[in-house]
Amino acid sequence: MTHDLNSILNTESFQALAKERLSQMAFDYYRSGAWGEWTLQANIDAWKKIRLLPRSLVDVSHRNLAIDLLGMNMSCPLLIAPTAMQCMADPEGEVATARAAAKAGVPMVLSSLSTRSVEDVVNASSADVVMQIYISSDRGFTKALAQRAQAAGCKALMVTVDTPVWGVRERDIHNGFRVPDGMSIVNLQRPGQPTGHSGSGIGAALGWTIDASLTWKDLDVIRQSVQIPMMVKGILRADDAGRAFDQGAAAVVVSNHGGRQLDGAAPTAEALPAIVRAVADRGPIIVDGGIRRGVDIVRALAMGASAVQVGRPILWGLAAGGEAGVDRVLNILAQEFDLAMALSGCANVKSITSDLICQQA
Ligand code: FNR
Ligand code: LAC
Repeated sequence: MTHDLNSILNTESFQALAKERLSQMAFDYYRSGAWGEWTLQANIDAWKKIRLLPRSLVDVSHRNLAIDLLGMNMSCPLLIAPTAMQCMADPEGEVATARAAAKAGVPMVLSSLSTRSVEDVVNASSADVVMQIYISSDRGFTKALAQRAQAAGCKALMVTVDTPVWGVRERDIHNGFRVPDGMSIVNLQRPGQPTGHSGSGIGAALGWTIDASLTWKDLDVIRQSVQIPMMVKGILRADDAGRAFDQGAAAVVVSNHGGRQLDGAAPTAEALPAIVRAVADRGPIIVDGGIRRGVDIVRALAMGASAVQVGRPILWGLAAGGEAGVDRVLNILAQEFDLAMALSGCANVKSITSDLICQQA
Protein backbone atom coordinates (compact mmCIF):
# COMPACT_ATOMS: atom_id res chain seq x y z
CA MET A 1 0.00 0.00 0.00
CA THR A 2 1.39 3.40 -0.90
CA HIS A 3 0.81 6.20 1.53
CA ASP A 4 0.41 9.86 0.76
CA LEU A 5 3.50 10.98 2.63
CA ASN A 6 1.98 14.43 3.15
CA SER A 7 -0.71 12.87 5.28
CA ILE A 8 1.95 11.73 7.75
CA LEU A 9 2.23 14.54 10.25
CA ASN A 10 5.02 13.61 12.64
CA THR A 11 8.10 11.44 13.01
CA GLU A 12 6.36 9.01 15.39
CA SER A 13 3.87 8.10 12.65
CA PHE A 14 6.80 7.39 10.33
CA GLN A 15 8.09 4.83 12.84
CA ALA A 16 4.75 2.97 12.72
CA LEU A 17 4.84 2.92 8.94
CA ALA A 18 8.47 1.76 8.90
CA LYS A 19 7.57 -1.15 11.18
CA GLU A 20 5.07 -2.35 8.57
CA ARG A 21 7.62 -2.09 5.77
CA LEU A 22 10.75 -3.55 7.34
CA SER A 23 11.67 -7.11 8.27
CA GLN A 24 11.60 -7.75 12.01
CA MET A 25 15.40 -8.04 11.92
CA ALA A 26 15.94 -4.68 10.23
CA PHE A 27 13.31 -2.82 12.27
CA ASP A 28 14.73 -4.16 15.54
CA TYR A 29 18.31 -3.30 14.51
CA TYR A 30 17.29 0.30 13.84
CA ARG A 31 14.99 0.66 16.82
CA SER A 32 17.11 -1.08 19.49
CA GLY A 33 18.87 0.34 22.45
CA ALA A 34 21.31 -1.60 24.62
CA TRP A 35 20.22 -3.94 27.42
CA GLY A 36 16.96 -2.73 29.01
CA GLU A 37 16.72 0.27 26.65
CA TRP A 38 16.42 2.73 29.55
CA THR A 39 18.73 5.34 27.99
CA LEU A 40 16.97 5.00 24.63
CA GLN A 41 13.65 6.06 26.23
CA ALA A 42 15.23 8.53 28.67
CA ASN A 43 16.71 10.50 25.76
CA ILE A 44 13.21 11.17 24.43
CA ASP A 45 11.68 11.87 27.83
CA ALA A 46 14.44 14.28 28.92
CA TRP A 47 13.68 16.82 26.17
CA LYS A 48 10.04 16.85 27.25
CA LYS A 49 11.11 17.98 30.72
CA ILE A 50 12.58 21.19 29.30
CA ARG A 51 9.71 23.70 29.60
CA LEU A 52 9.79 26.83 27.51
CA LEU A 53 8.82 30.41 28.35
CA PRO A 54 7.84 31.91 24.98
CA ARG A 55 8.32 35.66 24.41
CA SER A 56 5.21 37.63 23.45
CA LEU A 57 4.72 40.35 20.88
CA VAL A 58 7.95 39.93 18.98
CA ASP A 59 7.82 40.53 15.22
CA VAL A 60 8.33 37.03 13.83
CA SER A 61 6.85 37.70 10.40
CA HIS A 62 10.25 37.06 8.77
CA ARG A 63 12.14 34.14 10.16
CA ASN A 64 15.66 32.97 9.44
CA LEU A 65 16.46 29.39 10.42
CA ALA A 66 19.88 29.21 8.77
CA ILE A 67 23.24 28.71 10.46
CA ASP A 68 26.83 28.18 9.41
CA LEU A 69 28.65 25.28 11.02
CA LEU A 70 32.35 24.77 10.26
CA GLY A 71 31.87 26.42 6.87
CA MET A 72 28.74 24.43 6.00
CA ASN A 73 25.71 26.59 5.18
CA MET A 74 22.71 24.90 6.73
CA SER A 75 19.05 25.77 6.13
CA CYS A 76 18.35 24.91 9.78
CA PRO A 77 20.47 23.70 12.72
CA LEU A 78 20.07 20.00 11.99
CA LEU A 79 22.40 17.29 10.71
CA ILE A 80 21.47 13.77 9.70
CA ALA A 81 23.20 11.54 12.29
CA PRO A 82 25.37 8.68 11.06
CA THR A 83 23.37 5.45 11.05
CA ALA A 84 24.71 2.20 9.66
CA MET A 85 23.37 0.00 6.87
CA GLN A 86 20.71 2.14 5.23
CA CYS A 87 20.26 -0.26 2.28
CA MET A 88 18.19 -2.39 4.66
CA ALA A 89 15.61 0.43 4.58
CA ASP A 90 15.74 1.25 0.86
CA PRO A 91 17.65 -0.16 -2.12
CA GLU A 92 19.32 3.24 -2.74
CA GLY A 93 20.27 3.44 0.93
CA GLU A 94 22.65 6.23 1.88
CA VAL A 95 22.47 7.71 -1.64
CA ALA A 96 18.74 8.39 -1.19
CA THR A 97 19.41 9.99 2.18
CA ALA A 98 22.10 12.24 0.69
CA ARG A 99 19.76 13.43 -2.06
CA ALA A 100 17.10 14.29 0.50
CA ALA A 101 19.72 16.11 2.61
CA ALA A 102 20.68 18.20 -0.41
CA LYS A 103 17.08 19.22 -1.07
CA ALA A 104 16.57 20.13 2.58
CA GLY A 105 19.88 22.01 2.76
CA VAL A 106 21.25 20.05 5.71
CA PRO A 107 24.47 18.03 6.03
CA MET A 108 24.48 14.27 6.08
CA VAL A 109 26.88 12.42 8.34
CA LEU A 110 27.73 9.13 6.64
CA SER A 111 28.32 6.11 8.87
CA SER A 112 31.57 4.33 8.19
CA LEU A 113 29.39 1.19 8.35
CA SER A 114 27.38 2.33 5.34
CA THR A 115 26.17 0.09 2.56
CA ARG A 116 26.99 2.63 -0.18
CA SER A 117 30.52 3.90 -0.73
CA VAL A 118 31.58 7.33 0.44
CA GLU A 119 32.32 8.28 -3.19
CA ASP A 120 28.81 7.27 -4.35
CA VAL A 121 27.24 9.23 -1.52
CA VAL A 122 29.25 12.41 -2.07
CA ASN A 123 28.72 12.27 -5.84
CA ALA A 124 24.98 11.62 -5.54
CA SER A 125 24.04 15.20 -4.70
CA SER A 126 25.23 18.62 -3.64
CA ALA A 127 24.74 17.82 0.06
CA ASP A 128 27.57 18.50 2.48
CA VAL A 129 28.74 15.07 3.59
CA VAL A 130 30.63 14.48 6.84
CA MET A 131 32.29 11.09 7.25
CA GLN A 132 31.89 9.27 10.56
CA ILE A 133 34.93 7.27 11.55
CA TYR A 134 35.59 4.46 14.00
CA ILE A 135 39.28 4.23 14.80
CA SER A 136 39.93 0.55 14.18
CA SER A 137 42.62 -1.75 15.49
CA ASP A 138 44.14 -1.39 12.00
CA ARG A 139 45.33 2.23 12.30
CA GLY A 140 46.73 2.28 8.78
CA PHE A 141 43.32 1.32 7.43
CA THR A 142 41.60 4.07 9.44
CA LYS A 143 44.09 6.68 8.26
CA ALA A 144 43.54 5.62 4.66
CA LEU A 145 39.76 5.78 5.12
CA ALA A 146 40.00 9.31 6.53
CA GLN A 147 42.10 10.37 3.57
CA ARG A 148 39.73 8.65 1.17
CA ALA A 149 36.80 10.58 2.67
CA GLN A 150 38.67 13.85 2.30
CA ALA A 151 39.59 13.02 -1.31
CA ALA A 152 35.96 12.14 -2.06
CA GLY A 153 34.93 15.64 -0.96
CA CYS A 154 33.70 15.19 2.60
CA LYS A 155 33.56 18.49 4.49
CA ALA A 156 34.62 17.10 7.87
CA LEU A 157 35.21 13.89 9.80
CA MET A 158 33.28 12.83 12.89
CA VAL A 159 35.18 10.41 15.09
CA THR A 160 32.98 8.32 17.38
CA VAL A 161 34.51 7.74 20.81
CA ASP A 162 31.75 5.96 22.76
CA THR A 163 32.40 2.53 21.26
CA PRO A 164 35.42 0.78 22.86
CA VAL A 165 33.23 -2.32 22.58
CA TRP A 166 29.75 -2.75 21.08
CA GLY A 167 26.76 -2.32 23.37
CA VAL A 168 24.57 -5.42 23.68
CA ARG A 169 21.32 -5.08 21.75
CA GLU A 170 19.32 -8.07 22.91
CA ARG A 171 16.81 -7.93 20.07
CA ASP A 172 19.65 -8.38 17.56
CA ILE A 173 20.86 -11.45 19.43
CA HIS A 174 17.34 -12.93 19.47
CA ASN A 175 16.99 -12.27 15.75
CA GLY A 176 20.47 -13.55 14.88
CA PHE A 177 21.16 -10.21 13.20
CA ARG A 178 23.38 -10.44 10.12
CA VAL A 179 24.11 -8.15 7.23
CA PRO A 180 21.57 -9.25 4.61
CA ASP A 181 22.79 -11.11 1.52
CA GLY A 182 23.61 -8.78 -1.32
CA MET A 183 24.74 -5.97 0.98
CA SER A 184 28.12 -5.26 2.43
CA ILE A 185 29.87 -2.73 4.60
CA VAL A 186 31.56 -1.31 1.55
CA ASN A 187 33.89 1.28 3.06
CA LEU A 188 35.43 -1.22 5.43
CA GLN A 189 36.57 -3.87 3.01
CA ARG A 190 40.12 -5.06 3.49
CA PRO A 191 41.84 -7.63 1.36
CA GLY A 192 40.99 -11.07 2.70
CA GLN A 193 38.44 -9.66 5.15
CA PRO A 194 34.95 -11.12 5.17
CA THR A 195 32.46 -8.25 5.28
CA GLY A 196 30.08 -9.42 7.86
CA HIS A 197 27.62 -12.06 6.78
CA SER A 198 27.99 -14.17 9.88
CA GLY A 199 27.37 -13.99 13.57
CA SER A 200 24.60 -12.53 15.60
CA GLY A 201 24.84 -8.90 16.51
CA ILE A 202 27.15 -6.40 15.00
CA GLY A 203 30.22 -7.31 17.05
CA ALA A 204 30.58 -10.77 15.56
CA ALA A 205 31.11 -9.50 12.05
CA LEU A 206 32.79 -6.17 12.58
CA GLY A 207 34.90 -6.61 15.68
CA TRP A 208 38.10 -5.31 14.06
CA THR A 209 36.49 -1.98 13.09
CA ILE A 210 36.71 -0.71 16.67
CA ASP A 211 39.46 -0.92 19.29
CA ALA A 212 39.02 -1.28 23.07
CA SER A 213 42.53 0.11 23.72
CA LEU A 214 41.86 3.58 22.23
CA THR A 215 42.83 6.65 24.24
CA TRP A 216 42.75 10.39 23.60
CA LYS A 217 46.16 10.49 21.92
CA ASP A 218 44.84 8.16 19.21
CA LEU A 219 42.79 11.05 17.82
CA ASP A 220 46.12 12.33 16.45
CA VAL A 221 45.97 9.57 13.81
CA ILE A 222 42.93 11.28 12.34
CA ARG A 223 43.81 14.92 12.92
CA GLN A 224 47.25 14.57 11.38
CA SER A 225 46.10 12.65 8.30
CA VAL A 226 43.62 15.19 6.92
CA GLN A 227 43.14 18.93 6.55
CA ILE A 228 39.34 18.92 6.94
CA PRO A 229 37.95 19.57 10.47
CA MET A 230 37.54 16.74 12.95
CA MET A 231 34.48 16.54 15.19
CA VAL A 232 34.34 14.16 18.16
CA LYS A 233 31.08 12.29 18.76
CA GLY A 234 29.94 10.46 21.87
CA ILE A 235 30.79 12.92 24.64
CA LEU A 236 28.72 13.03 27.86
CA ARG A 237 31.17 14.70 30.30
CA ALA A 238 32.50 18.24 30.54
CA ASP A 239 36.07 17.04 31.14
CA ASP A 240 35.97 14.84 28.03
CA ALA A 241 34.60 17.73 25.97
CA GLY A 242 37.61 19.77 27.08
CA ARG A 243 39.97 16.93 26.15
CA ALA A 244 38.39 16.67 22.71
CA PHE A 245 39.07 20.35 22.04
CA ASP A 246 42.60 19.94 23.49
CA GLN A 247 43.15 17.18 20.90
CA GLY A 248 42.19 19.51 18.08
CA ALA A 249 38.46 18.85 17.70
CA ALA A 250 36.62 21.57 15.79
CA ALA A 251 33.29 20.58 17.39
CA VAL A 252 31.96 18.02 19.86
CA VAL A 253 28.82 15.91 19.61
CA VAL A 254 27.07 15.24 22.91
CA SER A 255 25.69 11.77 22.36
CA ASN A 256 25.09 8.40 24.01
CA HIS A 257 24.78 6.71 20.59
CA GLY A 258 21.00 6.80 20.78
CA GLY A 259 21.07 4.58 23.88
CA ARG A 260 22.88 1.79 22.01
CA GLN A 261 26.08 1.69 24.06
CA LEU A 262 25.99 2.11 27.87
CA ASP A 263 22.41 1.58 28.98
CA GLY A 264 22.15 3.72 32.11
CA ALA A 265 24.13 6.55 30.54
CA ALA A 266 22.58 9.96 31.15
CA PRO A 267 20.12 11.24 28.58
CA THR A 268 21.82 13.85 26.45
CA ALA A 269 19.50 16.69 27.49
CA GLU A 270 20.74 16.12 31.04
CA ALA A 271 24.41 15.88 30.09
CA LEU A 272 24.36 18.97 27.87
CA PRO A 273 24.27 21.84 30.44
CA ALA A 274 27.57 20.98 32.16
CA ILE A 275 29.28 20.62 28.79
CA VAL A 276 27.93 23.97 27.64
CA ARG A 277 29.20 25.61 30.83
CA ALA A 278 32.65 24.10 30.34
CA VAL A 279 33.39 24.48 26.61
CA ALA A 280 30.84 26.73 24.89
CA ASP A 281 33.62 29.22 24.15
CA ARG A 282 35.81 26.60 22.46
CA GLY A 283 33.68 25.54 19.51
CA PRO A 284 30.28 24.30 18.39
CA ILE A 285 28.43 21.77 20.52
CA ILE A 286 26.09 19.43 18.64
CA VAL A 287 23.69 17.16 20.50
CA ASP A 288 21.78 14.04 19.47
CA GLY A 289 19.50 11.44 21.03
CA GLY A 290 15.72 11.57 21.20
CA ILE A 291 15.13 14.64 19.01
CA ARG A 292 11.69 13.85 17.57
CA ARG A 293 10.03 17.25 17.16
CA GLY A 294 11.10 20.63 15.85
CA VAL A 295 10.46 22.08 19.28
CA ASP A 296 13.21 19.80 20.62
CA ILE A 297 15.62 21.77 18.43
CA VAL A 298 14.48 25.01 20.11
CA ARG A 299 15.03 23.32 23.49
CA ALA A 300 18.54 22.16 22.57
CA LEU A 301 19.59 25.54 21.19
CA ALA A 302 18.14 27.40 24.19
CA MET A 303 20.33 25.12 26.33
CA GLY A 304 23.42 26.18 24.39
CA ALA A 305 23.80 23.65 21.57
CA SER A 306 24.67 24.98 18.12
CA ALA A 307 22.81 22.25 16.24
CA VAL A 308 21.20 18.84 16.70
CA GLN A 309 21.51 15.51 14.94
CA VAL A 310 18.63 13.19 14.17
CA GLY A 311 19.11 9.43 13.79
CA ARG A 312 16.17 7.04 13.80
CA PRO A 313 13.49 9.34 12.33
CA ILE A 314 15.55 9.50 9.13
CA LEU A 315 15.64 5.69 8.96
CA TRP A 316 11.86 5.57 9.45
CA GLY A 317 11.40 8.03 6.59
CA LEU A 318 13.76 6.03 4.37
CA ALA A 319 11.94 2.78 5.12
CA ALA A 320 8.50 4.32 4.65
CA GLY A 321 9.12 6.15 1.40
CA GLY A 322 12.75 6.05 0.26
CA GLU A 323 14.17 9.45 -0.70
CA ALA A 324 10.68 11.02 -0.61
CA GLY A 325 10.18 9.67 2.89
CA VAL A 326 13.39 11.33 4.10
CA ASP A 327 12.32 14.53 2.30
CA ARG A 328 9.10 14.48 4.28
CA VAL A 329 10.75 13.76 7.65
CA LEU A 330 13.21 16.62 7.13
CA ASN A 331 10.35 18.89 6.07
CA ILE A 332 8.32 18.05 9.14
CA LEU A 333 11.24 18.78 11.45
CA ALA A 334 12.13 22.05 9.70
CA GLN A 335 8.52 23.22 9.61
CA GLU A 336 7.96 22.36 13.25
CA PHE A 337 11.20 24.15 14.16
CA ASP A 338 10.12 27.22 12.19
CA LEU A 339 6.75 27.33 13.92
CA ALA A 340 8.23 26.62 17.35
CA MET A 341 10.59 29.57 16.80
CA ALA A 342 7.70 31.82 15.83
CA LEU A 343 5.64 30.72 18.82
CA SER A 344 8.64 31.30 21.11
CA GLY A 345 9.12 34.83 19.82
CA CYS A 346 12.35 34.10 17.93
CA ALA A 347 12.89 35.49 14.43
CA ASN A 348 16.35 33.97 14.06
CA VAL A 349 18.49 31.24 15.56
CA LYS A 350 20.64 33.67 17.59
CA SER A 351 17.60 34.79 19.55
CA ILE A 352 17.05 31.26 20.89
CA THR A 353 18.67 31.91 24.26
CA SER A 354 18.67 30.40 27.76
CA ASP A 355 16.00 32.78 29.11
CA LEU A 356 13.47 30.75 27.07
CA ILE A 357 13.86 27.90 29.57
CA CYS A 358 11.66 27.76 32.65
CA GLN A 359 13.97 27.19 35.62
CA GLN A 360 11.13 26.29 37.98
CA ALA A 361 10.99 22.51 38.46
C1 FNR B 1 23.45 4.63 15.08
N1 FNR B 1 24.44 5.50 15.53
C2 FNR B 1 25.69 5.46 14.98
N2 FNR B 1 26.67 6.32 15.40
C3 FNR B 1 27.88 6.29 14.83
O1 FNR B 1 28.73 7.09 15.22
N3 FNR B 1 28.16 5.42 13.81
C4 FNR B 1 27.26 4.54 13.35
O2 FNR B 1 27.53 3.77 12.44
C5 FNR B 1 25.97 4.53 13.95
N4 FNR B 1 25.05 3.62 13.57
C6 FNR B 1 23.78 3.68 14.08
C7 FNR B 1 22.82 2.81 13.61
C8 FNR B 1 21.52 2.89 14.08
C9 FNR B 1 20.48 1.96 13.55
C10 FNR B 1 21.17 3.87 15.07
C11 FNR B 1 19.77 3.99 15.58
C12 FNR B 1 22.14 4.71 15.56
C13 FNR B 1 24.11 6.53 16.54
C14 FNR B 1 23.56 7.79 15.86
O3 FNR B 1 24.56 8.46 15.15
C15 FNR B 1 22.97 8.80 16.86
O4 FNR B 1 23.90 9.06 17.88
C16 FNR B 1 21.66 8.35 17.48
O5 FNR B 1 20.90 7.59 16.56
C17 FNR B 1 20.86 9.57 17.91
O6 FNR B 1 19.70 9.19 18.53
P1 FNR B 1 18.24 9.14 17.82
O7 FNR B 1 18.06 10.42 17.05
O8 FNR B 1 18.23 7.92 16.99
O9 FNR B 1 17.36 9.05 19.04
C1 LAC C 1 25.39 0.81 15.79
C2 LAC C 1 26.75 1.04 15.26
C3 LAC C 1 26.95 0.69 13.87
O1 LAC C 1 25.01 1.57 16.68
O2 LAC C 1 27.23 2.30 15.54
O3 LAC C 1 24.74 -0.17 15.38
